[in-house]
Amino acid sequence: MAVDGLKSLEYRGYDSWGLAWKEGGKLSIKKEIGKISGVDGSLLSDDCHLTIGHTRWATHGGVTQLNAHPHLNEDKTIAVVHNGIVENYQELRDDLKKKGHMFLSETDTEVIPHLIEEELKTTGDFAHAVRKACQRFKGRYAVLAVHTTSDTLVAARTGSPLIVGVEKGSGYYIASDTPAFMKHTRTVQYLDDGEMVVTDGKSILFSDIATGEERHKREIEISWTAEAADKGVFEHYMIKEIMDQKESVARAVNQSDEEIMTVANAIKNAKGTFLAGCGTAGKACMAAEYFFSVVAEHHVNFTPASEFKLYHHFLKPESLLIVVSQSGETADVLEAMSVAKAKGAKVLSIVNVVGSSIDRASDYTLHINAGPERAVASTKALTGQLAVLLLVSYALAGKLPEGKKLLLETAAQINDMLNPRYVERLRKLAERIKEREDLYIIGKSWNYPMALESAIKIQEVSYIHAEGFAGGELKHGPIALIEEGTPCIALFGNDEVTPDILSNSVQLKARGAFVIGVGPENNEIFDEWIRVPDVGNAQALANIIPIQVLAYELAIQRGKDPDMPRNLAKSVTVK
Ligand code: AGP
Repeated sequence: MAVDGLKSLEYRGYDSWGLAWKEGGKLSIKKEIGKISGVDGSLLSDDCHLTIGHTRWATHGGVTQLNAHPHLNEDKTIAVVHNGIVENYQELRDDLKKKGHMFLSETDTEVIPHLIEEELKTTGDFAHAVRKACQRFKGRYAVLAVHTTSDTLVAARTGSPLIVGVEKGSGYYIASDTPAFMKHTRTVQYLDDGEMVVTDGKSILFSDIATGEERHKREIEISWTAEAADKGVFEHYMIKEIMDQKESVARAVNQSDEEIMTVANAIKNAKGTFLAGCGTAGKACMAAEYFFSVVAEHHVNFTPASEFKLYHHFLKPESLLIVVSQSGETADVLEAMSVAKAKGAKVLSIVNVVGSSIDRASDYTLHINAGPERAVASTKALTGQLAVLLLVSYALAGKLPEGKKLLLETAAQINDMLNPRYVERLRKLAERIKEREDLYIIGKSWNYPMALESAIKIQEVSYIHAEGFAGGELKHGPIALIEEGTPCIALFGNDEVTPDILSNSVQLKARGAFVIGVGPENNEIFDEWIRVPDVGNAQALANIIPIQVLAYELAIQRGKDPDMPRNLAKSVTVK
């Protein structure tokens, strides 16, 4: 069970894995470098009633077996796994060294079992020792801890997610995300920030880390099924989730008018609306700047969430922050939310994972209904985010029915476009450019953020150095990078800026580039043309999909794992 649970969480970090389990009054440990996906589930006998496990995305210390979790104290009586960063670990470690503690790894996490050991000397109670230790950490964390002499599992969180799975009459699961136990139960209890939980498998107790005060947690049924998260007939989650867009875009549009109008009115009444997100979700926010400008003639500001805290100077209670996130657990986004809340501003969110920290910390949330997204490279979540943001801009313009009509037509066109012949066409194109180490993408208007998103997709799964530019910026520097045969993709629609992007393509061609046009109409400039439907203001949604398929094909043909690219994790829970 624990091994399978960890396998289901592997998309969140796959540098190394490890388990600690209680057997015959002692702690057994196993930890290895690499992915757990190949490990045989029978590693642990079924009568292991207390097990903790971890898949690592390295932050402090290289990818070594010593740095893999679980980490133990010297006499191996306490084992800990941790998601997050203990920012004051050096200070804590120096203190502990002065008390004679020895450290084996380069990690911040290893201070935790040693700190618990120290606290146990005064508390004499394991759960209380964990509470005391947590009160000394600075930073974001989720911790699971076990002790040889205690039959309890103790867990605590501040910042990083922790969810309890309740399997009536069988026991409890505690994990960073629901896929870890979805096969066994869909009844969950969410820990909020600054809370801890103690369980012996029969009973469970939630409390506040700072005060020790008991907390009561509602049991919630989650809607997603384990099957929905599976690859099904597809070889990889990434291509499965790209093909899911045949239905997921329509599901994103399927929002109640009342909910959309609530967000549109909040924007209308706000004195300054800010959009924030990271990576791909950030590109959706950037495209929304164009949606609100073109459709609703309304100005909104996009800022990468990791830069938002510097904006506190001009936030006020009448300001509005809209955050966009697939996982709902991205640390930089949660920080941006707390910066806005500290200024009394309202925070709305557009998320995929229902019940996530961002969802629960928002004043109001719109869900994009994309279903579970497991591949690290975000695909169907992006088109869901774009659809909801475009819908809100139409609502703001008082044209919601028109917006819904356009997006449902776009969803139908995307459904037709995503067929095996289309994928084959992109597979052939990938064949032609797979050896190139540099690739550039240009776009104007909402196709500019999609050019930036195209670069992320190609970078993160194929490791080709891809870069996106606003078409007009080329001649101010980047065009110096173009050599004979350099692949360049031009994203365009059928609108007022099309002539500009075509002349930018001519400039690239003049420098010997291999120009690939992605848009509604072919042109003699292009060496290759990838047809997408003409869907007007929703063009960004259609244009990014062939790029997702191209990135996938490039990854496959360059022998890379498209689902778990190196150095990345699906949900970035550290700043
Ligand atoms: C996208 O393919 C990347 N995995 C990454 O940029 C991602 O979009 C970013 O980390 C934001 O994640 P979120 O949507 O879960 O907040």
